[in-house]
Amino acid sequence: MQKHTYNLILGVNQDSEPIIWHWDNENALAIIGKGGSGKTTNSAYWLSQWACQGVRLLMADPHMNNRQSLYVATEHLHDALVEPCACDYGDITRYIELFHQIGYERLNNTGDHYPLVFVIDEFTSYLLNSSDTKASALKLLDSVNQYRKVGLRLMLIGQSWGQAIRVASQLRDSISSAVVLKSSKNDAAKFCAFDTTAKEANLLPIGRGFYQDEMIWIPKLTGTGKLVAQKRVKAFMKTDTLHRNEIYLHDMGT
Ligand SMILES: Nc1ncnc2c1ncn2[C@@H]1O[C@H](COP(=O)(O)OP(=O)(O)OP(=O)(O)O)[C@@H](O)[C@H]1O
Ligand SMILES: [Mg+2]
Repeated sequence: MQKHTYNLILGVNQDSEPIIWHWDNENALAIIGKGGSGKTTNSAYWLSQWACQGVRLLMADPHMNNRQSLYVATEHLHDALVEPCACDYGDITRYIELFHQIGYERLNNTGDHYPLVFVIDEFTSYLLNSSDTKASALKLLDSVNQYRKVGLRLMLIGQSWGQAIRVASQLRDSISSAVVLKSSKNDAAKFCAFDTTAKEANLLPIGRGFYQDEMIWIPKLTGTGKLVAQKRVKAFMKTDTLHRNEIYLHDMGT
């Protein structure tokens, strides 16, 4: 049987080749972009791929009641959530501690190491507005550094990394990969390898981004795609069957 990888297809490059995010090699994925650049929509697309492969999700979203929130954009994946979505800053702080605790317990026993992604939308607003964010940033830093080998990954979505970096520069430096959508040069420069890429990030249209130094085209998660994802997540829950990204993307017409 083929080993399951939990890799993501982030999008395609200029030659229409898939750009893959390798689960085994990465500890975290940051998504950077201005308001309306597509952070939430594209994150929902990536989270769908994970959920279809049996990856469980822990979710924090301060805007979960807004109809453009990540929580609403991933309605079809709610069966994959291990806990209800955290909304207020106190609950998000508790989930950051919970995630750390799960990692700690996994390191100390050989129990159930199912793949788990902790996704936080509006992460930079949380860092800027919540109290005790220094402690939270350190907890996340520790989780990123230690828990990749026990199946935990982090997905952080945010706008103003330039400002948030004051409390989270070490965390930023430990995040192994980032997708940069339309961003100010300053915000993009925190994650882009090359200065020219950071400049270009300011000009990106919706549906395009940078991954490392490569430009990517990101297909949109359509209504049909959501139905497919929902069916697949439910099938996983019932039969323990793992589904491959390629089949899912094929079903979505990409
Ligand atoms: N890949 C894409 N292809 C086409 N349209 C897209 C794509 N990504 C996002 N959009 C559209 O762009 C709009 C803004 O997207 P989204 O809400 O995801 O942005 P955001 O960066 O999360 O914004 P905010 O910072 O306000 O939360 C939405 O109407 C969405 O449907
Ligand atoms: Mg958003």
